[in-house]
This record gives sequence, C-alpha cells and structure tokens, in this order.
Amino acid sequence: MAAADTWWREGVLYQIYPRSFADSDGDGIGDLRGILARLDHLAWLGIDGIWLNPTMPSPNDDWGYDVSDYCGVHPDLGTLDDLDALVAGCRERGMAVLLDLVPNHTSDRHAWFVDALTGRDARHRDYYVWADPAPGGGPPNNWLSNFGGSAWQLHEPTGQYYLNNFLPSQPDLNWWNDEVRDAFDEILRFWYARGVAGWRIDVCHAIVKDRELRDDPAVTEDDHPEVQKLGLRRVFSMNRPEVHEVLQRWRELSDAHDPPRALVGETYVLDLDQLIPYYGKGDDQLHLAFNFLFVHAQLEAETLRTIVEGVEEKLPHLSWPVYTGSNHDAGRLATRWAADDGRRTRVALMMLMALRGTPFLYYGDEIGLPEVPLDAETALDPVARRTGDASRNRDVCRTPMQWSDEPGGGFTAADATPWLPFGDLAACNVAAQREDRGSVLHLVRDLIALRKRHADLRSGAYERIEAPGGAWAWRRGDGFAVALNLADGEAAVDGITGRVAIATDRGRDGEDVAGALRLGPYEGAIVELSGG
Ligand code: GLC
Repeated sequence: MAAADTWWREGVLYQIYPRSFADSDGDGIGDLRGILARLDHLAWLGIDGIWLNPTMPSPNDDWGYDVSDYCGVHPDLGTLDDLDALVAGCRERGMAVLLDLVPNHTSDRHAWFVDALTGRDARHRDYYVWADPAPGGGPPNNWLSNFGGSAWQLHEPTGQYYLNNFLPSQPDLNWWNDEVRDAFDEILRFWYARGVAGWRIDVCHAIVKDRELRDDPAVTEDDHPEVQKLGLRRVFSMNRPEVHEVLQRWRELSDAHDPPRALVGETYVLDLDQLIPYYGKGDDQLHLAFNFLFVHAQLEAETLRTIVEGVEEKLPHLSWPVYTGSNHDAGRLATRWAADDGRRTRVALMMLMALRGTPFLYYGDEIGLPEVPLDAETALDPVARRTGDASRNRDVCRTPMQWSDEPGGGFTAADATPWLPFGDLAACNVAAQREDRGSVLHLVRDLIALRKRHADLRSGAYERIEAPGGAWAWRRGDGFAVALNLADGEAAVDGITGRVAIATDRGRDGEDVAGALRLGPYEGAIVELSGG
C-alpha cells in the first residue's frame, strides 16, 4: 500500500455500492460481510482504498442518502461489528476505507427532524432551514429541488416551510447553526476512532445556503447542459462561499488524526473555476474534489484534453486531481462513454489509469460492466419514480456485481432474487475474465500494477505530446508516454521512441516503437520511453 498519508494520491480507489457488491446472507441485498468476503478480489486487482456508498441507518427513500442515525450501520448491511471487521480486513490488505458522509440533509425520520417538527421552539428546530411563506403565500423563494418541484415543503402544524433540495423526506440541515457543526465534528471523530480513513462527502458544495434565501437566477444558454437541465443556476441555494469555512474545519480535524484522514468531495459544479476553490490553498480544504466536468464530458480527445489541461493549469501546486468515469448517479463508463464498444471501454480505462490524478473505479468497471436497461415504472430510484423519466433512472448503474455466470451470479444465493436485476451474466463476469488474459479485468489489473511499479505513472508530471485530431497523447514524467486514439480512424503519434508497456490490444505489449506510434481505432498504449 502507498504510504499512510499519500494513499489517496498515489493509489487507485474503488467505489462500492454496498447493496450491490456481495450478499453474505442470501437475502438478495449486498452487505458488509459480503464485501469482506470479496476483499481478496480487490487486493488481487491492486486497489489501495475503497469508498462505500452510505452504510448508515436509513429508511432508504434515497437508498441511504437519507440518514436517520449517523453513528450506526444499516441493518440491511450488517452491524457496527461488521463494519469494524471490514475496516480491519481492509487494513490487513493495505486498503483504506472511506465512508459516505451526508451532511446536507438528514432523513425526516432522524431524531433531530422528528423533534424539529414538534414546534417552532423545539430544541432542534433550528438544525434545519425553516422559512415563513412568501408575503402573498406560497414557498419562501424560487428554489427548486434537484429531484423536481419546489425545494420547499409546507409543514402545516407550524405554518412554516422547510427546505429540501432533494426529496421532501430529506430536509436540509442549517449549517449556519453552530450546534450542527459541532454535531458533525463528533460524527467525524466517532468514525475516525473506528479506523475509517476519511470521507466521500455528499453534495459537498451545497451544504451552506444563502442566509437571506435570495432567489436563484434563471439558467442561460451559456450554462453547461447539465446546469440547464436544472432550470435555475444554483448560486444561492448552493455553492455559497461560506462552505469553505466548514471544509477548513473538517480538514483541520482530519489532519489532527494520526494518520491524517482524507476528504473527497462530491463537488457537483460544472465549471473549473468553481471547482478549484474546493481545494483551498492546496492543503487546507478537500484532498480531492470530484471533477464532474470530466465525468459528463464525451469520450472525445479534444474535450477531455481541454478539461485535464485546465486542471493542470489551475490547480494549486499542493493539490491533486481526481478522475472517474462511472458512479452510482452518472452511470457506467462502458455504456455512457463506450456505448458498449469494448475497444472504447478499454481505452477509457487506460486513460483513467494513466492521467496525473487519483483514479476512482466504480465496482464493475474492472470487467467493463455495462448499465442494465430498466424502465422508470418499476424503478426503485426515487428520481425515476418522481419524474417518470427512464433516462434519469439510476437503478441502471446500481445492479449487482457479476461475479460468475452461475445462478445468483456469485452475488447472492442461487435461489434468491437480487434487489435489482442482473445484466447478462454470461457475457460479463469476474470468473470468466480471470481465466482470460486478454480480458478487461486483466487489462485493468496490469495497468494498476504498472502504476505501482513506476513512480512516473503515479506522480510524474503531465506534458502534452502533439497528436492528430481524435487522438490525445501525453508524457508522464521522463519515463512514459501515453497515447490514446479516441476516434474511429487510424492515428499516428510522432515523437515516441521506446517499448509498449501495455496496449489495449494486448498483442502489442512489448512492441518496439521507433519515432512514431500508430494506433488503430479506439486503441491506446502506454510506452516506456528509451532514454535520450
Ligand atoms: C448525491 C448522491 C446521490 C443522492 C443525492 C442526495 O448526489 O450521490 O445519490 O441521491 O446526493 O443525497
């Protein structure tokens, strides 16, 4: 494992959706004991740390992102002892564990909110964002929920509205209240004492709201398409400058632990100039801030290169980029980026492993697992259910891990019904790919091993190499060149001499390159450069 305080920048991290990874008790739902039993797969792959999607008790209106107790474990997933055992199992294998912290909102069944509903002077009333109706009646302002409709819900008995930027059963916390800040400090300490290595912080950019609750302005056609979809520019309901004080406070608390703990933010902003400030001065806020501009970009050379070079240019020198192609909200790279074209999946995975920055794989990426088409009517995802929009159904990227093609897929018991359906088990599973040296799984494992062997690939500088349109090439340190052809014609990249360390077409591993590297459609290679 990378050193105790640099695993998050030198290592390869892996996101696990606990309900969908491995089921130890045959109820069709993945659990912590199931993950523990599969840690050897991650160790074999070369993973340095895992991020677990929410593990805390929750009514599951938003599958764990509606927390009812921040210091427990969801009974579907196991017990606190199971979590301790998982942390210990990871430690034995040199892997860190990041949990998911959900500080923007609680479940409406959290004891704080249950109390807040009892009256305007309730002990925890001010833990949440309450406001009187607008002068003529109706919601206090124009803020919209990310999941559709107004972000305000009237609580008739007390005559005030409470804010919910997501579901009405996910009331937003009031981060202007010092007691909320203190309560979260205690939550951080509680889990740090149990050996948790840090956090992925849910809607990290959104926790502090405008104190005056000013209206959000309308989007314009200059806004990123994903922002336009939201209808309003979230400049008052989210993205307030005061969020940085909270991040500094958490960083201080996390740095004061031995070893220091890491903070990874879900910084859902679609403009690099808004993203960079989440790193603060480089060492006083987030360690890693997820780059959604990159996630939402097409798998297209010029677009991705521009984003990556923007990060290279703008990031404070102590900071470190992070790249991912899949997650539990945005979908899976094998479908989104690669449109089920295996060549594109392979080249995308090579890109993630070879950029200067921490790669996060999402469970299943290592076998090129595609999304599973599902309709909105039967969706378990509240967003699909509320909107009726199948294109917003996040179930498609949360289906069970495909370990084998046996009944139960190696995920659950043969006679159990998994909580979400499997995709095509025979076409894509871990067991079959382990037997096949040419598989995506072996490609990912070999890419990780190559990173581990060569400091240049972990921490070497990024320097662009000129490449023809549709291709993208860069140097990592002095030792390596990476060249990717992200288009469907041939491409030749000049100025590369050495030996192919790994190519997406494994038949080219070991090939000598003298001055120019020729790449077929959607082909990539990492070349170990010869000196001089
Ligand atoms: C984040 C999570 C998403 C969840 C939302 C509300 O965006 O990643 O899954 O629905 O927050 O908590």
